[in-house]
Amino acid sequence: MAARVIPVDPFDLVIFGGTGDLARRKILPGLYRRFHAGQMPDTARIIGAARSEMSSDEYREFVRAAVIEFVSPALCEAEQVAAFLSRLAYVAIDARGDGGWAALKSEVRGDVVQAFYFSVAPGLFGDLAERLHAHGIAGPDARIVVEKPFGRDAASARALNQSLAAHFREEQIYRIDHYLGKETVQNLMAVRFGNVLFEPLWNAQFVDHIQISVAETVGVGGRGEYYDKSGAMRDMVQNHLMQLLCLIAMEPPNRFEPDAVRDEKLKVIRALEPVPADDIVRGQYRSEGDLPGYLDEVGSPESRTESFIALKVQVANWRWNGTPFYLRTGKRMAARLSEIVVVFKEPPHAIFGDEAGSEANKLVIRLQPDEGMTLTVTIKEPGPGGMRLIEVPLDMSFAEALGPENAEMPDAYERLIMDVIRGNQTLFMRGDEVEAAWRWTDPLIEAWEKRGDRPKPYRPGTSGPEDALALLHRDGRRWRDLEA
Ligand code: BG6
Repeated sequence: MAARVIPVDPFDLVIFGGTGDLARRKILPGLYRRFHAGQMPDTARIIGAARSEMSSDEYREFVRAAVIEFVSPALCEAEQVAAFLSRLAYVAIDARGDGGWAALKSEVRGDVVQAFYFSVAPGLFGDLAERLHAHGIAGPDARIVVEKPFGRDAASARALNQSLAAHFREEQIYRIDHYLGKETVQNLMAVRFGNVLFEPLWNAQFVDHIQISVAETVGVGGRGEYYDKSGAMRDMVQNHLMQLLCLIAMEPPNRFEPDAVRDEKLKVIRALEPVPADDIVRGQYRSEGDLPGYLDEVGSPESRTESFIALKVQVANWRWNGTPFYLRTGKRMAARLSEIVVVFKEPPHAIFGDEAGSEANKLVIRLQPDEGMTLTVTIKEPGPGGMRLIEVPLDMSFAEALGPENAEMPDAYERLIMDVIRGNQTLFMRGDEVEAAWRWTDPLIEAWEKRGDRPKPYRPGTSGPEDALALLHRDGRRWRDLEA
């Protein structure tokens, strides 16, 4: 069963920051894969725009190198790459001046879908929006795509929203959170709302608690300057983990449509309780052997920025009253693993007696690696000797279940860019949603900054600081092993 490909309408996609790292690693290779899959109509065009002076031919060579580096060689047949490159052009542009805008205007057609990807520092969003408008380049239905970080607090996010809203309507603005483009994240909605099995149990009566873990093995590396001003809370929790939490916790929308879904997510964010200091653990990875520690990598020995955070979060509504959501994310941990674990309650009455043992059912939703789901069920241990209960997994790896031709899932960026062209905002964050997420995050950050808390050191290759384990232990619970 090969994945179905439905071509999108003809488009012109302008990538501001077209020579930047995100364009090179994700956007351009992703576009190539969509082209290779036959999703791009013959007349689609991609226009790179950036500060450096270069010809379109030079830009094509830059893109060729990016495709060869980041796309699997099996997809890089010479004629296909050449055909893709023939759709590209480049314009040198001055985001804060007038240079290049007339040239850009002559490249962008008025009778196709227009999309402008702002893959630049957020400080330039307002300038780009204003110039696209002032030079009459963006038509009435043009789309703009913006990347995180979308602000660093509620006030800056509001200012960014206002600078975009001065020239574009909300339905033209696509705020990317690439976690929403991950296959399993969308599958989470399919599992919840496409089956009758789970939804009746999806509440505080049957769910004991939920764990959301996004662990990385890499350190902050060359991104130290950005990262040290953000930390795990701003870099990961306010956006990616928050989105996962919303999809798990939200009420069923009446349709799978942008505002219906986003309204429900917004209600979850608004229902989040403030988190007391005792329910937050922040950590910083230490050096070990040849591996530099966080402080060495960011070059700031006094930094109090966290490279790890764990929180116990409560959603104050009928569905989730009393069911905690434990969130954790960090760099340089034991494994690269993103997963959600829904831990159900144990049966109310143990008919097999205490000796038989008991286990709670768990639904594990794996985002990466090996995207899939596992449901643990309790069965009798085989053999004579009475009734002893054991836990066995009902395991589904999407790659195995759907066949090898579907094993390589489209990258989140590919899917999201195609959604922009289709005009579907379901998997993008609305302005009010982003601001609400910051409004919940801001007081937590302010509180630990005011107290002058220092993050707890943790050894690289572990599950973070000991205190993060204690956060669950004291509630009689434990994190699922990262290397399970
Ligand atoms: C980015 C963060 O948004 O997400 C990075 O800025 C992080 O710090 C990355 O490494 C993780 O994304 P993924 O898709 O590799 O899990």
